[in-house]
Amino acid sequence: MFEKIVPAPPDAILGLTEAYKADPNPNKINLGVGVYKDANGHTPILQAVKRAEERILAQETSKTYLGIDGSPAYAAATRALLFGPEHEVIASGRAVTAQAPGGTGALRVAADFLARTQPGTTVWLSTPTWPNHPNIFRAAGLEVASYPYFDSRTNDVAFEAMLETLRTIPAGDVLVLHACCHNPTGVDLSSAQWAQVAEVVAERGILPLLDFAYQGFAQGLTEDAAGVLALTRPGQELLIANSYSKNFGLYSERVGALTLVAATPDAAQAALSHVKQVIRANYSNPPAHGAAIVTTVLNDAELRRLWEAEVAAMRERINTMRHLFVETLNEKGVQTDFSFIARQRGMFSFSGLTPEQVKALRERYSIYIVGSGRINVAGMTEANMDYLCSAIADVLAT
Ligand code: LMR
Repeated sequence: MFEKIVPAPPDAILGLTEAYKADPNPNKINLGVGVYKDANGHTPILQAVKRAEERILAQETSKTYLGIDGSPAYAAATRALLFGPEHEVIASGRAVTAQAPGGTGALRVAADFLARTQPGTTVWLSTPTWPNHPNIFRAAGLEVASYPYFDSRTNDVAFEAMLETLRTIPAGDVLVLHACCHNPTGVDLSSAQWAQVAEVVAERGILPLLDFAYQGFAQGLTEDAAGVLALTRPGQELLIANSYSKNFGLYSERVGALTLVAATPDAAQAALSHVKQVIRANYSNPPAHGAAIVTTVLNDAELRRLWEAEVAAMRERINTMRHLFVETLNEKGVQTDFSFIARQRGMFSFSGLTPEQVKALRERYSIYIVGSGRINVAGMTEANMDYLCSAIADVLAT
């Protein structure tokens, strides 16, 4: 049976990591997958995480299953981080949270939940978006459609075009929004734009689904929740898929959550019962360790201060690299204006490099960039900047 199977293409992002690992060039640089690297090009374990793990190791007494929807303490800590501890959706019980294996796991649970409870709904994705978004929703049997997001002439949000399409979305359809650090472009909505989007969403009866994978990487943990809060209006329904891969550096532990806000607490509980059925049929219940780390850190004043400082340090290093990248390209005599990269936020920037230039960087210099031209700024260091910018200058000139 299997001899007739035609090989599938490598994954647009994780496939690059496989190729990078196999590349013997000592100067190779991986600017593909969205993983943070420190000044030494290493993806560190945060100190707050190590300290929490020491406590967990000393205190844990069992490895029994978690519930289908995971740890209640983790769910509560996640909601408090998303909305702020005093928010109405928490006090009223309108928000419920299911632990999930990473942001991708949370999105897939959301997709299966939507396919089960809202059959026929269409999921609207930004152009461009994370290439795994269409994969996930289609795998759940949902239709996907797209709305304009990025204007390559201004390197900013194509806001008027975006709103125009949003105003045509039928009631009950799902609108996927990147809560901050838009992947792949690095350009986000302003507070005023979030307010306008929230207005259209409410008027048209659209269900927003926020993909919140980079909280803390744009402007700050609280500041980055502006979009979430703008959409969390009285009576408004909402889904949030969040991830602790990046802001806790817990990539391989797969720690995320799906939070659902319903119009009433009863509706939230009914929805959660379906979320649980989806999880049970998929992976039964989530792994415990990563969620225990997050809960320990978020609920301990000292570890939390340490973690917040570590998130700020990651954010600041990325922003320093953005500026150094633009300066170094200027020094190399590159004529193309890359100054917009210094204004963008999060790990990614849409460089404007063409697929041919991306290919040339890989073949000639072992520099790995996603085919769309998305660059992971967090993979840049002071040590690799000169090599990187010389290589870009070369491929732009030829
Ligand atoms: C990325 O976009 O690089 C990250 O979200 C990692 C992934 O799973 O693709």
